[in-house]
Amino acid sequence: MSNPASPPAVDVLDERPGLTFPPGFLWGAATAAYQIEGAAAEDGRAPSIWDTFSHTEGRVVAGHTGDVACDHYHRLGEDVALMAELGLKSYRFSVSWSRVQPAGSGAVNPQGLDFYRRLVDELLANGIEPWLTLYHWDLPQPLEDAGGWPARDTAARFADYTTVMADALGDRVRYWTTLNEPWCSAFLGYGSGVHAPGRTNGADAVRAGHHLMLGHGLAVQALRAARPTAEVGVTVNLYPVDPASDSPADRDAARRIDGLANRFFLDPLLRGSYPEDLVADLSAVTDFDHVRDGDLATISTPLDLVGVNYYSRHVVAAPVEGVPDDPAPSCWPGSEDVRFVTRGVPVTDMGWEIDAPGLTETLRRVHGYTELPLYVTENGSAFVDSVVDGQVDDVDRLAYFDAHLRAAHDAIDAGVPLRGYFAWSLMDNFEWAWGYTKRFGMIHVDYDSQVRIPKSSARWYASVIRRNGLAAQ
Ligand code: FCB
Repeated sequence: MSNPASPPAVDVLDERPGLTFPPGFLWGAATAAYQIEGAAAEDGRAPSIWDTFSHTEGRVVAGHTGDVACDHYHRLGEDVALMAELGLKSYRFSVSWSRVQPAGSGAVNPQGLDFYRRLVDELLANGIEPWLTLYHWDLPQPLEDAGGWPARDTAARFADYTTVMADALGDRVRYWTTLNEPWCSAFLGYGSGVHAPGRTNGADAVRAGHHLMLGHGLAVQALRAARPTAEVGVTVNLYPVDPASDSPADRDAARRIDGLANRFFLDPLLRGSYPEDLVADLSAVTDFDHVRDGDLATISTPLDLVGVNYYSRHVVAAPVEGVPDDPAPSCWPGSEDVRFVTRGVPVTDMGWEIDAPGLTETLRRVHGYTELPLYVTENGSAFVDSVVDGQVDDVDRLAYFDAHLRAAHDAIDAGVPLRGYFAWSLMDNFEWAWGYTKRFGMIHVDYDSQVRIPKSSARWYASVIRRNGLAAQ
């Protein structure tokens, strides 16, 4: 990528027309607390499940932890200045619940709140709209010890914490996301166990998914009560799921995975019901006895917007008879034997297939559920970067953004009320179980010196924001 012989970035892309986005389109970038803040044990912050998990041997590549991360906690001013240079209209960040309410319930830590007050004030002073995510995977450890998301009480604790945040920042923060990607919290955290807290029980994963959504519904109500003018939404990670062939068995495999990945969340949140076929698929895992009367009404409390995180597409096939199941714990309870197929198309450094049309498809699908404004709250790619002469020429990442913005524009042309786009990520950071080995940032971070270098993609994104669209190429 940084080979001096390679052509300049623009030549890598095909000839493409310029595109303009609707006036007021909210151009942003996103991060999450545990991935960037560091200062894990400072100013009263207590451990979350990600502190415990990353400090457990064998959980995160190379034993990396978020103890220091990008040291954003101490570099807030410098980081907001970089955002201002990019011309960001909005910055999506998450709050570390453990910083604000170290025990997960009860006493509030004023120093924790102060950090977020300073961040929000700094953003506003720079004309950047703060977009606050309440929960990006980092449950306070004491709540996990009390049962975690499979326990119903965690939903009520989340609502209490939401009220704390709404009271503290509701006068300055307009946009609120309750949960980031509940599928990951539930099915990677309690199903396959590759994310914190690392538990591996299919029924617990399903229960966690339900209680996350219940917590979301209660949090929406808490926000409405405290701040009637807040714009409130949730962020789901969605994938188009295609069958590898037209055979009935492959199509059934796609239906099952689509149920678990997408409809498990979209249907309760936006329609107030679980899909019947999904409940049937899960019958050997759980009888859904954790669902109480009124839960689905709470979960489907009306929203102001829906956030969509999009990275890739799943292509799946029916199990092959005679081939033993993978014994590893699965994030697809009840459908463990479905095969995930690779198509041989280009992939990112995560191995995720690059599929920009899948973003158009996904946005159109969500629009089929709701008339609400939609936002792409995350989209981006990991690639191996190299610093050459103090520069990072990340042409692959730039091309990924370009293709996906064109796909987002196609969705707008098709009538989707898409109101904004947040690049993942503002800067390189702690990529969960992959630690610091995967780089998603538009800004390069040297983790030894904490020096930040805006990459080519950052300069390009700044020009996209300036012209509210893409230049012809
Ligand atoms: C999403 C997460 C985000 C980041 C990207 C690459 O699933 O929300 O924190 O890890 O993937």
